[in-house]
Amino acid sequence: MSQTSFSRGGSVLVLGGAGGVGSTAIQWLAYQGAARIVATASETKLDAVRALGCEVIDYRRDDWSRELAGANFDVVYDTVGDDNAAVRATKVLREGGDYITIAGGTGDTSEFGGKYKFQSFVTHPSGEDLSKVSRAVQDGGLTPLIFKEFAFEDIADAYSLCSQRVALGKIVVAV
Ligand SMILES: NC(=O)c1ccc[n+]([C@@H]2O[C@H](COP(=O)([O-])OP(=O)(O)OC[C@H]3O[C@@H](n4cnc5c(N)ncnc54)[C@H](OP(=O)(O)O)[C@@H]3O)[C@@H](O)[C@H]2O)c1
Repeated sequence: MSQTSFSRGGSVLVLGGAGGVGSTAIQWLAYQGAARIVATASETKLDAVRALGCEVIDYRRDDWSRELAGANFDVVYDTVGDDNAAVRATKVLREGGDYITIAGGTGDTSEFGGKYKFQSFVTHPSGEDLSKVSRAVQDGGLTPLIFKEFAFEDIADAYSLCSQRVALGKIVVAV
């Protein structure tokens, strides 16, 4: 995760816990010593996401900003990118906490008023970061959740499945 208010013992709400990024983030946060991780997912994916090491909220049934109001998370990590997520995040973040989106769309941050930090984050390849991830996998702290694996010649099918946004975990292309 980028530079944030999160530190060991901190708390994070992951929006989109079932996706390739969200499912990895949950495990990474647990490995980094988060005291509380809550993730959103839809009904059929709740058990699988919970098994990654977090509490889960069925976002289609319950409004996470109401259920978690006042929870004082250090970070809301948004992998979904709903337009109103930034505004709703102010109900669950602690003062000085971070709303981080990787899913584009900045949302309306006018209510942040200096109380919360906003980051729109884009991944850059980094050997150093990948080494940390590799160590976590070797330690057993991170087990990539694989939804489907494709041969390289079927990469178009992999891309098509990606664009449907239904994966429970990662879509992998073998090279
Ligand atoms: N900034 C960056 O560097 C960066 C890097 C990688 C990815 N991204 C972006 O981050 C986003 C997530 O990537 P990903 O690979 O994790 O995606 P993904 O694997 O395709 O995510 C699939 C999951 O998204 C959930 N989902 C779909 N529509 C939703 C909605 N309207 N509300 C809540 N959850 C929804 C579904 O779970 P449910 O059934 O539980 O809804 C599904 O399991 C994408 O927009 C991707 O382009 C950005």
